[in-house]
Amino acid sequence: MRLDRFLGQRKTLGRRAVRRLLATGRVTVDGAVMRDGRHDVGPFTPVALDGEPLATRRPAYWMLHKPAGCVSATRDPRHRTVLDALDPADAEGLHLAGRLDFNSTGLMLLTNDGRWSRRLSDPRHKLPKVYWVRTEDPITPEYAAVFERGLYFAYEGRMTRPAGLEILAQREARVTLYEGLYHQIKRLFGHFDNRVVALHRERIGPIRLDPSLAPGQYRALGADEIRLPGPAEPDLQEPRRP
Ligand code: URA
Repeated sequence: MRLDRFLGQRKTLGRRAVRRLLATGRVTVDGAVMRDGRHDVGPFTPVALDGEPLATRRPAYWMLHKPAGCVSATRDPRHRTVLDALDPADAEGLHLAGRLDFNSTGLMLLTNDGRWSRRLSDPRHKLPKVYWVRTEDPITPEYAAVFERGLYFAYEGRMTRPAGLEILAQREARVTLYEGLYHQIKRLFGHFDNRVVALHRERIGPIRLDPSLAPGQYRALGADEIRLPGPAEPDLQEPRRP
């Protein structure tokens, strides 16, 4: 949001009072005096008035090895949620960057940084989400062309985006998605009447599930993992169709 709006909200001040604070050099952003009220500040930007910090939230980024049998939600009246796996002090204010089904396992990302999680999940960034899948029946080579071409999902009223399929064994495959529709992988295999019996997310974009994490364990992301490819503040447009 704009710096002048942020100051007005935080200090309950009118526009004139905010303008005066800015004009007299009492406001700093990232340690430097900022007089321009149009300056954009994020939820974690260090803003100070007369040297006193106004923005106190710190960004948090975690990876969890989601175990089977818990819900991808921040609360649920009946089941354990992925947040229950975290220490309550670490879990405060977090939301999920993407979901996994109740019995799916693997990489789950949790954060309090909405911009970051939107970038991760926005299909226009084309960040691959990679899953290992086991099915009830054999997987045949014809699946790959169908996954690539896309299937019409009636509930969403559109075609799925191209997905990758690498057959690893008779009943095992690696699937790459660039979006996250409800039960997407199960529905893709469902097209062939082939039931998914195990599903494990290995990677989202550049972030791989740490193999040292057992199901239910979690750790903070490192700086290299938090840095996502592509522009920091994207203004992506879907390409116009002729
Ligand atoms: N697709 C599914 O069907 N389930 C998941 O948990 C993730 C992707």
